[in-house]
Parts: sequence; C-alpha cells; structure tokens
Amino acid sequence: MTADAYMPTREDKFSFGIWTVGWQGVDVFGGPVRPPMPADRAVRKLAELGAYGVNFHDNDVFPFEASEAERDQKIADFRRALDATGVVVTTATTNLFGHPIFKDGAFTASDRDVRRFALAKTMRNLDLAAELGARTYVFWGGREGAESGASKDIRAALSRYKEGLDLLAGYVVEQGYDLRFAIEPKPNEPRGDILLPSAGHALAFINELEHSEMVGINPEVGHEEMASLNYAHGISQALWHGKLFHIDLNGQNGPRYDQDLRFGNGNARGAFWVVDALVAGGYDGPVHFDYKPPRTEDDDGVWVSAAACMRNYLILRDKVRAFRADPEVKAALAASGVEDLMVPTLAAGETWRDVQGFTPDIETLGARGLGYEHLDQLALEHLYGVR
Ligand code: GCO
Ligand code: MN
Ligand code: MN
Repeated sequence: MTADAYMPTREDKFSFGIWTVGWQGVDVFGGPVRPPMPADRAVRKLAELGAYGVNFHDNDVFPFEASEAERDQKIADFRRALDATGVVVTTATTNLFGHPIFKDGAFTASDRDVRRFALAKTMRNLDLAAELGARTYVFWGGREGAESGASKDIRAALSRYKEGLDLLAGYVVEQGYDLRFAIEPKPNEPRGDILLPSAGHALAFINELEHSEMVGINPEVGHEEMASLNYAHGISQALWHGKLFHIDLNGQNGPRYDQDLRFGNGNARGAFWVVDALVAGGYDGPVHFDYKPPRTEDDDGVWVSAAACMRNYLILRDKVRAFRADPEVKAALAASGVEDLMVPTLAAGETWRDVQGFTPDIETLGARGLGYEHLDQLALEHLYGVR
C-alpha cells in the first residue's frame, strides 16, 4: 500500500477479529483454501499493518478439544505476540456455534446440559478475557434460532437467553472484572432465523436484563443490511441510547447471504454515512473490522484486504470531514433547515396549551422545497472525489 495520509496509527484504534484474517475460506460449498493461521501470527501481521487491537473467540486461540497443556501453550504464544507488538486485546467472545453440540443453540438450546455447558465455556473465557485486558465481551448468538416453527418456543428461548446473560453479568460483577457485554444482532445464517435479529430487537431485549446497564450492542454493517436496514441509522440510535459498546465494520451488497466483505466494499455510499455517524456521534470504542478475505485470496491477499479495511475507513473519514467543512455544504444545511431539528418543539416553560390550536402558514409549508437533493449531491460529489 502507498505511504500517504491514509496510514493507520494507534490513535485510530483499529482492531480485527483473529478469525477474520484467519478465515480459511471454508463455506457451504467448499473446503479450506488457506492453511490455518495461529493467533500469534495474526497478531504479529496485524501489528505490522498498523492495527491497535484484536478480538478473539476462545477457539481462535486454542482448539475446542485442546488439552489443558495445549491450551496453556497456545495462550502463552498469543500473549507473547501481544507483548512483543503492543497490540491490545480490546474485546473477546465465545465460540458457541462451531461444535455440533451447539447445533440447536447455546444459551437457548432445548437441552439443559448444552445450556449449562455454554455458560461454563463462556465463564472460562471471561476469565481469560479479563486477564488479557479486554473491556468488551461480545455475544453473537449465531446458533440461537430455528429453521422451523414448532421447533423453538421463542418466548421460552428469550427467557433462557435472559437467564444466561443475567448469570454471566452477575459472574462478571462478582469477579470484579471491568467488562461490558455487547450483543451482536443478525437476522439469519447460520440459523434460518436467529433470535435478536436486528439492533432494535437487541436494544429492546437489553431492557429486560438484570444488569442492563452493563449490556449494549455490537451491530455489524452486513447484518443490518441483510435485513435491508440502514446501519448508520441503527448505530445513531444505539449512540442515542448510550448503547453502542462496539462495532463490527464490513461490507455487504444488499439483502443476501452474509458477505462479510472488507470495509468500504459493497455499499460504499452507506459506508460514508457510517463513518459520518461515528465521527458525529463521538463513538470512541475500537474501530473494529469483522470481515472475511474472499476465498480467491492467498496469504498476501489476506493482508491486502486487512490493510484496505483500515485504509478505506481513513479515506472515508477524510471525505466526511471535507464534506462537513465545505462552506457550500454548510450553506445547503442552513437553507434546508436541517439544524432547526435541534431546537425543541416547545420553548422552556411551554406546555401542550401553547400548541393547542396552533396553525402555521399551511400552504407555504406544504409548498416549500427542502433542498435535500442539492445537499445529498454535495455529499456524493465528495464521495466520488470531484470536490
Ligand atoms: C458473522 C458474525 C460473526 C461474529 C463473531 C463473533 O459474520 O456472522 O459477525 O463473525 O461477529 O463470530 O462471535
Ligand atoms: Mn457477518
Ligand atoms: Mn460480527
């Protein structure tokens, strides 16, 4: 990549899941196209590219069936790479989807032993997460769902989901860990329908939790767009609720399978507004990428795509800043009256009595053009690089 203004720095707080660059390309139609990547190698290579942090599943570092000795060895290797590079563990999570035992879910599996095992597996990795300094713990319930109607009692499943998260939050509090939970919504894949399918569903569910103050969300670009939702609006609402604890940035082309493209590929116009929403909303958590280097890529291609995620973010951040600083944009915003929305509808001390029967100049307001096309064209011209 070219050495220019788009080189990542630690202050940019870019982070990657170990599983992203480590993805071997196994999909439903084909086996691996790349060799396994030890977590410590991922850390060292990501550090070279300018990443600041990483996120890991327990089984990205050591295999599900690892002996205690093997587990210790792999964690030691991982830790050595972190110490050598200064890369921080910002986030951690549990693999509650890969092993056949989780085929009917983890916290919401009908089988009680599976649920109890899922809790035990998660507590063990919460210990490791805390030890490695993670501040956020992600819950992506990929297997919490169903393919058919009668197979899952959704209300019971939500009760078990709540029970599990309440227990785990209680565990974190009791251990004195400095960790917050972030639920990651997804509408489907691998289950036909997944519980907590969108940011909105997750936000509503959090209100029912015992330790709701320590639970927020980790929305992923592609997951919201799979449901045809506007990700920038979703994260803006999460920020408004004080619940945007983490983000998974990647690329997606509309409602289809989860593409997990590198950030900036897919819906590029959407990505512009995502960066704008993060900058304007004051998001200060890790700028995290959760994507999959396509199967067409060899090891070199993996690192090209990882570097490109960060580079695209920085390019878009530049464009967003230029858009916001452009005097013509400021004039267009003023002419459209966009900022008038900041003004409360009632003045201080007013009540419903002050608006009862209020009649503005209805004809003028109805006929008024808002100039949003001009405003949006300015944004697109910044994005297209002609301004
Ligand atoms: C997906 C998900 C996963 C989770 C990750 C954390 O693409 O379906 O994003 O990648 O984020 O596994 O558990
Ligand atoms: Mn995804
Ligand atoms: Mn994700």
